[in-house]
Amino acid sequence: MELSAVRGRLCLARFAVTGAGVRARLIRATFNAASAQFDAEPLFFWRHCGTRTVELAGVGPGDRVLDACCGTGASAIPAARLAGPSGRVVGIDLAERQLDRARDKASSRGLGNIEFRQGDLTALELAGETYDVVVCVLGVYFAEDVPAALAGLWRAVRPGGTLAITTWGRRRLAPAGPAFLDLVGEERPDLRQQPGELERISTPSALRSAFAAGGVPRPVVDEETVTVRMTPDEFWTVVLGTGYRLLVELLGPAASERVRLALREKVGGGEIACDFLFARAVRPGPRARRRSMPGPAR
Ligand SMILES: C[S@@+](CC[C@H](N)C(=O)[O-])C[C@H]1O[C@@H](n2cnc3c(N)ncnc32)[C@H](O)[C@@H]1O
Repeated sequence: MELSAVRGRLCLARFAVTGAGVRARLIRATFNAASAQFDAEPLFFWRHCGTRTVELAGVGPGDRVLDACCGTGASAIPAARLAGPSGRVVGIDLAERQLDRARDKASSRGLGNIEFRQGDLTALELAGETYDVVVCVLGVYFAEDVPAALAGLWRAVRPGGTLAITTWGRRRLAPAGPAFLDLVGEERPDLRQQPGELERISTPSALRSAFAAGGVPRPVVDEETVTVRMTPDEFWTVVLGTGYRLLVELLGPAASERVRLALREKVGGGEIACDFLFARAVRPGPRARRRSMPGPAR
């Protein structure tokens, strides 16, 4: 799908587009386009959240880990390190260019216990597989129906295993992120942002409610704020390497350049704040890791 061919009211990271197939193609095209900038230094937050998520989830030697919406491996790679040679990590993502980068990173780090597959979080094909730990970092809000997506991920967790979901809190790259969205809306009112799933799970209580609606009991939710100073150019790299990329593509070169210059004028450089929510729930059952249990084939 060519992003420039998409018309209508679209929502960043909300993808208020009906029809699972269209939505998946749009997300895939967005992150294929964003993949060139995805691992640039200003996008440190992928790495930060990925590492923190697998640590909080308690991934350990021998674990089998599923990473849904794995991107370029920000959580899958530290999970593979923690799981060690006796463990196994499967990362899935819609965007094949993200997966190509993830595979390159895993192989350059000599990680042989990790596999990346193209797949859809909302239509997981598990063939009876269950995992000690299932993670989804900064990805579940792309699903049209977040509780249903959480229910699908929960089914992949073995009894005694852990589901770990990380999402954005209230401030997302503020103040530059919201200013960018406002400027896009001024330039193209049809691209003005509507509240979506991201907003609906951006507080601990809202996230807990989504877990409950998906049939996942009693998550523990930790909040964290990360601040960093960025130059305007660094922030624009963030725009190109995140879901914001969709809006840049839809604006086209001339209008996106106007937005870039207006953003520089309006916000300039300075401190950027990111709030994150780290949630995890343990499926009732024996706590012993799968490696010590007779279990289904890998
Ligand atoms: C914001 S990025 C985060 C990637 C990674 N988890 C990280 O933290 O670096 C979101 C990723 O989710 C993927 N994605 C979005 N919706 C998806 C879906 N329904 N199924 C699989 N992957 C999806 C996108 O292609 C993208 O790579």
